[in-house]
Amino acid sequence: MLPNELATRRLLLRAPQPADARKIFDAYTQSAEAARYMVWRPHAAVAQTEAFIAECIALFGEGARWPYILALHDAPDAPIGMLEARASGYTVDIGYVLAQAYWGRGLMPEAVDALAGAALAVPAFFRLQATCDVNNRNSARVLEKAGFTREGRLERFVVHPNISPEPGPSYMYARCR
Ligand SMILES: CC(C)(COP(=O)(O)OP(=O)(O)OC[C@H]1O[C@@H](n2cnc3c(N)ncnc32)[C@H](O)[C@@H]1OP(=O)(O)O)[C@@H](O)C(=O)NCCC(=O)NCCS
Repeated sequence: MLPNELATRRLLLRAPQPADARKIFDAYTQSAEAARYMVWRPHAAVAQTEAFIAECIALFGEGARWPYILALHDAPDAPIGMLEARASGYTVDIGYVLAQAYWGRGLMPEAVDALAGAALAVPAFFRLQATCDVNNRNSARVLEKAGFTREGRLERFVVHPNISPEPGPSYMYARCR
């Protein structure tokens, strides 16, 4: 129900391909900084990223999951991050990560805003939502800039293994139509 590709002013959101694995391993999956507030630990070997990308390729557009690769228009084969959408009923959950070299340029808000616009134009979808660790200020800013509203704080909600083995608090953000 979501498109296979989306274009924003600076970014292409596209389906993953096998060659992305090595490139995102080099760009961010092995980075402790990028992984800090994610639900995964930094990858120790490229084989882990290859297995992850193989799963993304199998999932893309099937079973209501769209793990988009983000790339700049002039380098579509050079992935710089990912933005995943997961539909469940009338709600679409999103998650995202960008290589640290590209932080601070407003790229993720641009991608999230475009995805939200496309998803909320689908008659079946009414709500896009995302959660982030209460200390992940950068992620909260992405959502605020993309027109999401903070709805509340969810205690003991998600395990972020790079922070603690116990589930910690998250903020819930949503953008609805
Ligand atoms: C969260 C993330 C996607 C932000 O993407 P982005 O394209 O850099 O977003 P923005 O450029 O709008 O910057 C967002 C905030 O990050 C901070 N920031 C900007 N540049 C930064 C840099 N070089 N280093 C650290 N933080 C920076 C700023 O506080 C900024 O907020 P502001 O615009 O109010 O000043 C990116 O930081 C990231 O991939 N982080 C790791 C993965 C992650 O946490 N994902 C979300 C899980 S819920």
